[in-house]
Amino acid sequence: MRRGVPAGRRWRPALAAVGLALVLGACGNEELPQNALDPEGPYARQVHELAKPVFIIAGFVFVLVQALVVYSAVKFRRRSEDEAPVQVHGNVRMELTWTVIPAAVLAVVGVLTVGTIADLDRVPQGEEVVNVTVTGHQWWWEYEYPDFDVVTANEMHIPVGVPVAVELESADVIHSFWPPKLAGKLDAIPNRTNRLTLQADEAGIYYGQCAEFCGIAHGDMRLRVVAHEPADFEAWVAANAAEAELPSPEADPEAAAGAALFRAKGCASCHTVKGYSAGELGPDLTHLQQRETFAGAIFDLNPANLRAWLRDPPAEKPGALMPNLDLTEEEITGLIAYLETLE
Ligand code: CUA
Repeated sequence: MRRGVPAGRRWRPALAAVGLALVLGACGNEELPQNALDPEGPYARQVHELAKPVFIIAGFVFVLVQALVVYSAVKFRRRSEDEAPVQVHGNVRMELTWTVIPAAVLAVVGVLTVGTIADLDRVPQGEEVVNVTVTGHQWWWEYEYPDFDVVTANEMHIPVGVPVAVELESADVIHSFWPPKLAGKLDAIPNRTNRLTLQADEAGIYYGQCAEFCGIAHGDMRLRVVAHEPADFEAWVAANAAEAELPSPEADPEAAAGAALFRAKGCASCHTVKGYSAGELGPDLTHLQQRETFAGAIFDLNPANLRAWLRDPPAEKPGALMPNLDLTEEEITGLIAYLETLE
């Protein structure tokens, strides 16, 4: 303790810390879009139900240990310059106590945790289960629905009240798929398939993001899960399963010219537009206009943002693997006209 600090002030830092903890504790705000403490589906709720007792136990241990530290520091402090503390070696009773109690606490936490992991690990069964293969790419998410012949990016669509069985993969490095209100966090690892189940109680948009540092644009690798009422989900599937129609030069010459540019400028070698191109490096664009965002769900999908993006993708999103194609404004106008037909 510094000399000259009045006794009353010594406790100020501790009081400030307690105050801060109380304020932060009040942040369990339902408006937070990515809040694991506010689950909105049964699988996320199960994780939360596990976190609660573990947090209470951890809080109890924290308070007990801190109290013992403060008690020991005060009670056994050195009282004068020439006082030597009592030298102690070995205390069977105390050593047994601080071995057995933590072991018992960890055993309780372990049983609760293993039980929840086993529950969450069960692959959901039943006709209604929706299967989605989620692939992490630098720096966007791909969603493939093997039962519906649908592929999309960044925005995952699901029906409400139904388990969604996710097979999680990676095309390059380790990513982590994390929509906190719907499921726990799980790594996407190259050459390995991880499984996770998510489910939403109600229709709505659920936000998430990549949660494993995966390179320069890691922070721009967001995701959304859009939950629909069953009929709306069926409509979404129907709209996304069809092939894209090529714009006709008579009806829409600008879009038709844009479609030609899409091939001539090399877009087609990286992007799939079902029925027209089969590139595999970038997101599938067959039904681009069904989405609200693009480029890792960081930009709203609209002509102005598409124009800025096509001018120079890495300038808009540092690290983006789509190169600057040195397009003229006229070429960009044509490409956007084509992209707008991809409904
Ligand atoms: Cu992908 Cu971080």
